[in-house]
Amino acid sequence: MTGNTTAEAAPRARLSVVLGVTGGIAAYKAAELLRRFTEAGHDVTVVPTREALRFVGAPTWEALSGKPVSTEVFENITDVPHVRIGQTADLVVVAPATANTLARAARGMADDLLTNVLLTARCPVVFAPAMHTEMWEHPATVANVATLRDRGAIVVAPAEGRLTGKDTGKGRLPEPEEIFELCQAVLARGGVTDLAGRQVVVSAGGTREYLDPVRFLGNRSSGLQGFAIARAAAARGAEVTLVAANSALPAPAGVKVVGVETTAQLREAVLAASASADAVVMAAAPADFRPTTTSDAKIKKSADGSAPLIELEQNPDILAELGAGRRTRGQVIVGFAAETGDATHTVAEYASAKLERKGADFLVVNDVSGGAVFGQPDNAAVLISKDRDPIEVATGTKQALAHVICDEIARRLSNP
Ligand code: CTP
Repeated sequence: MTGNTTAEAAPRARLSVVLGVTGGIAAYKAAELLRRFTEAGHDVTVVPTREALRFVGAPTWEALSGKPVSTEVFENITDVPHVRIGQTADLVVVAPATANTLARAARGMADDLLTNVLLTARCPVVFAPAMHTEMWEHPATVANVATLRDRGAIVVAPAEGRLTGKDTGKGRLPEPEEIFELCQAVLARGGVTDLAGRQVVVSAGGTREYLDPVRFLGNRSSGLQGFAIARAAAARGAEVTLVAANSALPAPAGVKVVGVETTAQLREAVLAASASADAVVMAAAPADFRPTTTSDAKIKKSADGSAPLIELEQNPDILAELGAGRRTRGQVIVGFAAETGDATHTVAEYASAKLERKGADFLVVNDVSGGAVFGQPDNAAVLISKDRDPIEVATGTKQALAHVICDEIARRLSNP
């Protein structure tokens, strides 16, 4: 028997989204987030705090959302907004969320309209904090974030980069587009945080093996599938490290991205991040071979027209290494297998042999005859394992496949 899973349903067309905006310099970025939600057809109610209006005024929110905005409980009182807005929401997202608002939410305070909405909401709640590094790392904020996560809220770790002044560090609001994508993933799953408290490592992209400072051996992996898995895991509450090889894709919200180039660097970064991880997903396409030597200077053409011979050596197999260590660490290890059938073996036969050889818990198998999946938004796959019937995933978005993979990771983590 084969389990069938179709691509998950897209979020219902028109949903009620509450956008909480609090008093940080990144409040202006929430205008772009609001635009994304309205363009997707959602009905958005903006609930700013008083301090947020010092950064971006009410007319901006009213014009962009097409609705009046209020910060107070005692306005439009016949409408009972402090109860109704939260009760009827499909999603509440607070972006940016200041340390002060995280503290008020964690304590269950109800001293303005936004905190009242947070107390009455029974839908998924996403906080996208933005603040200075010191404030984010302060034990008080750490404890407040842990409290909110314990209650099922998704608190997106801030990005690293330029902060308000001349300083840089952890504390930036992730890009609005990425917060939007995360919210869409949360909406599609009804806010299930089945990976809360779990650490997940994902590798993505294709590695490069340099012949000289300007030339390399590479492959066609775009990184899209790995980035989609990282985004899905974050939307389900996991703490995610994404080891990204040569990808220009934007960092998913709340995900720590470690950039690498070569297979050796990928191996080092994945093994370091995996030491404490609950699950590792090898979606990257590491180059199997590298030149035995890399020239420090650009290799010149020879006068006689002869081409250099390049000697290659095999790279270590990271997935097999993780698979071998898995038994002692109790991790869920996931591999990918891009296969083509030939005259002697089918795709399924090659994939089963690979599952055995690599020691992974399950493999996501793509039939790549014709190169169909590279760089494309859609994918179809079969998840194979030794202890379960194959799960066939019909053609759908890479984001939908990412959620099926996360379903299987969550299932295995809860039934070790
Ligand atoms: N992989 C890895 N380290 C490598 C090569 C591949 O960890 N040096 C991982 C990939 O990330 C993927 C899985 O192994 O999860 C299968 O990759 P694939 O290229 O299909 O497998 P290969 O071992 O290269 O097998 P083949 O001989 O079929 O190319």
